[in-house]
Amino acid sequence: MRDAAPTTVHLKDYTPFGFTIDSVELTFRLAPSATRVISRIAFRPNPETGDRRFFLHGEGLTLVRATIDGDEVTPEIVDGGLTCPVPDAPFTWESEVEIDPAANTALEGLYLSNGMYCTQCEAEGFRKITYYPDRPDVMATFTVRIESDLPVLLSNGNPGDRGETWAEWHDPWPKPAYLFALVAGDLVAHADRFTTCSGREVALNLWVRPGDEDKCAFGMEALKTSMTWDEQVYGREYDLDVFNIVAVDDFNMGAMENKGLNIFNSSAVLASPETSTDANFERIEAIIAHEYFHNWTGNRITCRDWFQLCLKEGLTVFRDAQFTADMRSAPVKRITDVIDLRARQFPEDNGPLAHPVRPESFQEINNFYTATVYEKGAEVIGMLKRLVGDEAYAEALELYFARHDGQACTIEDWLKVFEDVTGRDLGQFKRWYSQAGTPRLTVRDYWTDGTYTLSFTQVTPPSAASPDPQPQVIPVDVGLLGPNGDEVRPTETLEMTGATQSFRFEGLAARPVPSILRGFSAPVILDRDSSDSERAFLLAHDTDPFNRWEAGRMLAAETLIAMAAGDAAPGSDYLDGMLAVLRDDTLDPAYRALMLALPGQSELAGTMADRGITPDPDAIWSAAEALRLALAQKAQDVLPRLAEDMRVDAPYRADADQAGKRALAGAVLGLVTRLDGGIAAAAQYAAADNMTLQLSALGCLLNAGKGKAELAAFRDQWGHDRLVMDKWFGLQVMQAAPADAADAARQLTEDADFNWKNPNRFRAVLGALAGNHGGFHHAGGAGYALLADWLVRLDPVNPQTTARMCSAFQTWRRYDADRQALIRAQLDRIAARPSLSRDTSEMVTRILS
Ligand code: PHE
Ligand code: ZN
Repeated sequence: MRDAAPTTVHLKDYTPFGFTIDSVELTFRLAPSATRVISRIAFRPNPETGDRRFFLHGEGLTLVRATIDGDEVTPEIVDGGLTCPVPDAPFTWESEVEIDPAANTALEGLYLSNGMYCTQCEAEGFRKITYYPDRPDVMATFTVRIESDLPVLLSNGNPGDRGETWAEWHDPWPKPAYLFALVAGDLVAHADRFTTCSGREVALNLWVRPGDEDKCAFGMEALKTSMTWDEQVYGREYDLDVFNIVAVDDFNMGAMENKGLNIFNSSAVLASPETSTDANFERIEAIIAHEYFHNWTGNRITCRDWFQLCLKEGLTVFRDAQFTADMRSAPVKRITDVIDLRARQFPEDNGPLAHPVRPESFQEINNFYTATVYEKGAEVIGMLKRLVGDEAYAEALELYFARHDGQACTIEDWLKVFEDVTGRDLGQFKRWYSQAGTPRLTVRDYWTDGTYTLSFTQVTPPSAASPDPQPQVIPVDVGLLGPNGDEVRPTETLEMTGATQSFRFEGLAARPVPSILRGFSAPVILDRDSSDSERAFLLAHDTDPFNRWEAGRMLAAETLIAMAAGDAAPGSDYLDGMLAVLRDDTLDPAYRALMLALPGQSELAGTMADRGITPDPDAIWSAAEALRLALAQKAQDVLPRLAEDMRVDAPYRADADQAGKRALAGAVLGLVTRLDGGIAAAAQYAAADNMTLQLSALGCLLNAGKGKAELAAFRDQWGHDRLVMDKWFGLQVMQAAPADAADAARQLTEDADFNWKNPNRFRAVLGALAGNHGGFHHAGGAGYALLADWLVRLDPVNPQTTARMCSAFQTWRRYDADRQALIRAQLDRIAARPSLSRDTSEMVTRILS
């Protein structure tokens, strides 16, 4: 039951809890529909506050009994928890509650997934397990006893005593309840060991359902590599005797960093060459690293309140990006991260869902696990590192770990360590945490008598979250090239602090060509009136790999926008530039593959809208098709040789080298298919012995309107494998032409294997529809209606996943009046549902605002 008027929580209202906890003891008597949870919690008054109101969160719990110091009490059950008079001295609270894991479809709290018990507590799921002060600033040591006949019983920390039908666990590290985890099931372990830098022996286990044993090796290697990397680069050692990872099929997110017991969406950990693509392997490596790195940035040092979420997420995303850059190619990682930022964070930051990296209010915290908090949060740390330098960054991190170990912290604490180490005042820098919106950086340049001047203006669009944005500190990395293409000034970080600011470069022999915002040194939109010939020059000569790629990207965007807006022919600067890239064997194949990819169609629609052009999704789709065909024709002669050069004859490895070759081969196959109608793709499909080649071939065939037989064969081959079948479902929608996408998705929702309560399967179909720009926005609104139908259906079952997927509608104001009306009608329809979840209701209200 919930209030009619949703309540909003504000950062400014933070107060500490009136009690601290010495220890928590939990006993679980597991039963599918009637699990008993007995808790024994030693509270003592918190000396930091005089507020002695005793409120414990609790949701969907049946209270069986409660005692204080052994005496029965009758707490008052209130909205969202209970209250009770308590002594003004240390006391022991005990309670027994009953919960129903089998009925838990929201996948938050304790639930069942294919007969296996598992938990998800971040952010506020622990209150669905027992009455507790479910807030991250209350940290305690947990001892857990699990009673069940199931063979594998796991919780956080180190294993304790074990009997036939029970197991005990003790976690010596104080932690907030959101890091609690429990797993019980019929599982098998892929086991290994790790010796830490100080010689501590750690038992590593990756727990999976029987049958998945052959999908564990890669994840385990990634874990060990991550552990070594965190020791070497950040000086962080692991701190328990065991580290357990469990794969579960039903999970709302990617994975969860519970102390010593990470729980993973099976799609984020299970992999084999036959069933997983190179992209899957890379993502798994990154997520394993991310969750492992949380052990220090998140668990040992946690968040004071949920407004500080970026304290752990921004930093941990930044750390996992550094890891991937070290393991694979740094430029390729940077470029893919920027593509992702522009695709997911920029629309958020410049639309109705805009919020600062550290939000100041929310209704449902689950709605703030966003690209802004995670990815922009990581960008902010990248800027900080650039501004203070690598050495000061390393010192500041050392100080952060030393000063705050065991604490629940704020962004103020984080910035203070940088101020103390460098003596800098980070007052203005802090605006990156408090202001929403993507700054737009306009550049003009001047040339007089050997002096070159770059003049910048920054403007951040006002939003509901930040009505009056102030200038931010923007590190702008700039290098200058001479007319012959040589670099005449190496990269330098210009520190922009004002609304407008100029920087002069003296003593140049000729007017240079600037390479601005190298490495994407700040998450801003760079606005510069440059020409296609300058872009072509940078594409040919820039020494900065990011900006070299960016030049090609801008050439593609400009020609696509011109093509979509009228009937311009494909731009020759773009085609010539790409031909040179295809021919340049000195370039890393993975990098060349990125060069060949076109900007996303949604991104193009956003750029057009920014320029005051109403985007036409069909026209954008047609332009992209036409440009690909033009490139295929232009590159005709080099494609066969390139396909040959990129063939991997060695046994499959998921490393950057092989993956890069397959990525470029995949891009080439896409072009070839436009010329041969699918002959090469069908041959590749028939011969494929790994999922990367199999899926890229199938994608090309479907894109060409072929592949019916292959699609059926694929299902015969992989029908037993959930993760592979997610690909089968998704690919058909992704590759559908605009007029067919909604219908393809609808048909798939009628398939017997469309288990819509499984978030991976739901996203495979409906997420793919939302991601097919031309298809989702096809005139008539069938895509909008289908997505809304399914969101309405999923909401009572799984509010969290429903709410996240509402963001497909966040860009609605970009489009023409007809499409706006169609989307609005669907949003109104969702909003009008009786007993809509708090999650979805907040999202829809914000999108409509
Ligand atoms: N904290 C998890 C991560 O970033 C994400 C997550 C949030 C998972 C909420 C589940 C629920 O690694
Ligand atoms: Zn995280």
